Amino acid sequence: MKQFTKLAKLKFPKDFWWGVAYSAHQTEGNNYNNDWWQWEKAGKVPDRSGRACESWQRYRNDHKLVEQLGVGAFRLSLEWSRIEPKEGQFDQAAIRHYRKVLQSLRKRRIKPVVTLWHWTLPLWLTQKYQGWHNREIVALFERYCQKVMEELGEEIDLLLTFNEPRLPLNKGYLVGQYPPGKRNIWQFWQARKNMIKAHKRAYLICKQIRKGLPVGITQYCNDFNTEWNGFLINKLIRWVEQKYNWHFFKRSKGCHDFIGINYYQGFTFQLKKPFFKMRKESLIFAKMKEKFAPIGIYEVLMSAKKHFPHQPIYIFENGASDSEDLIRKRYIKEHLRQIHRAIRKGVPVAGYFHWSLLDNFEWQSGYGPKFGLCAVDRNTMQRTPKKSFYYYQKIAQKNELDLEAEV
Ligand code: BGC
Repeated sequence: MKQFTKLAKLKFPKDFWWGVAYSAHQTEGNNYNNDWWQWEKAGKVPDRSGRACESWQRYRNDHKLVEQLGVGAFRLSLEWSRIEPKEGQFDQAAIRHYRKVLQSLRKRRIKPVVTLWHWTLPLWLTQKYQGWHNREIVALFERYCQKVMEELGEEIDLLLTFNEPRLPLNKGYLVGQYPPGKRNIWQFWQARKNMIKAHKRAYLICKQIRKGLPVGITQYCNDFNTEWNGFLINKLIRWVEQKYNWHFFKRSKGCHDFIGINYYQGFTFQLKKPFFKMRKESLIFAKMKEKFAPIGIYEVLMSAKKHFPHQPIYIFENGASDSEDLIRKRYIKEHLRQIHRAIRKGVPVAGYFHWSLLDNFEWQSGYGPKFGLCAVDRNTMQRTPKKSFYYYQKIAQKNELDLEAEV
C-alpha cells in the first residue's frame, strides 16, 4: 500500500523549471513588416495573422495568467522586424517595449526565456538578401543578436538563438510550405549551413556579453521506430533520427549549454507507402484526428542522453491542438509521466514548457488549431483559462504529477 502511494505521486526535481510558451508573430498582432505577413497576404494560408492575440498591447494581461498558472518561467520570442525595421536601423521604442515586457515578467518572479528567431524575417532582409540561403545573412543575424544582447541581455534568464531550425528549413526549402517557398536542395543546404554558422557566431557574442547566460537552440524532435525489425532497417531509422534530431547540435558542437527539445509526435516506419506514418497510442487518443504518442518523448530523451551525456535537457514545447480541450489534460499527464520515467533513468531533464499559453496564429493552418491553455475570443481578445489550465497549474504548483487526479 505504501509503495502504491509513492507511485501515485511523481515528484519532479527540486529546481525543475515549469513553464509555458508563445512566440511573437503568433501572438503580438500587427506584425506587417516581415516575410510571413507577405506570405499571408499572398493567400498561402487560410487566415492572416492580423491582430493575432494583441499581446503587444496586452502582455501584462498574459503575464498575470502566467503568474496565476504558477509556473516560474515563460518562453517568448522577439520580433526581428520590430527591433530592426530597416537595415541597420534599430527602433529604440521597440527595444524599450521589450525591456518592459521582460521586466514585467521578472517583477513577478517569472524567468524570461527568449528566442531570437521564431521563423519571421524582416521584409528589408528578404527583399534585398532573400533569406537563409544567402550567406550575408550570417552577419546580419550577428548584428541583430549583438544589439539584443547589449540592450536586453541583462533581463534574460536563458536564450535560444533559433526555434526548431529543422522546420523552416524543410518547409521553406524542400516542401515550399513556408517562406521563401522554395523546393531546392542546394539552397536548403546553403540555408542550413548559414544557420549553423549564425548560431555559432551568436553563441560567442552572447558569451562575450554575458558569460553566465545559458545559450542554445531548441529543435523539433520526433522519435522514430519501426513495426519491422531488422538490422538494416534499424540502422536506417537511427540514421534518419540522427539527421533529423541531432544534426544541428552536432554540427555546432561546443555552442550549446543545453539540449532544447520540442516534442509533439512520433513516426513509425513501415515497409509500404507512406513509409513513415505518424505514431499513435490509440488507447488514449483514439477520438482525435491527430495522432499522439507520449512514449515517444521518453525515447527522444533517452536518445538525447546517449548523444549528449553531459548536457542538461529542456522540453521547450509540447502541446496538442485540441479545440474542445477534451484530451489536453491527458496529453499533459501522459507526457509528464514519460518525462518522469526518463528522469528516473538518469536523464537530466531541467524543465518543461507547455505550448501554448494562448490559442494563437498557427502558421500555415491559420486560426483553426487551438493549442492554448487559455482560449482567446477573436473579437474581444478576452482570455479564458480552460480546464487544462487548472490541471497544469496544480502540477506546476506542487512540483508533482498526481497519477490519481481526475483527467
Ligand atoms: C512551433 C510553434 C507551433 C507549434 C504547434 C512548433 O513546431 O514552434 O510555433 O505553434 O509547433 O504547431
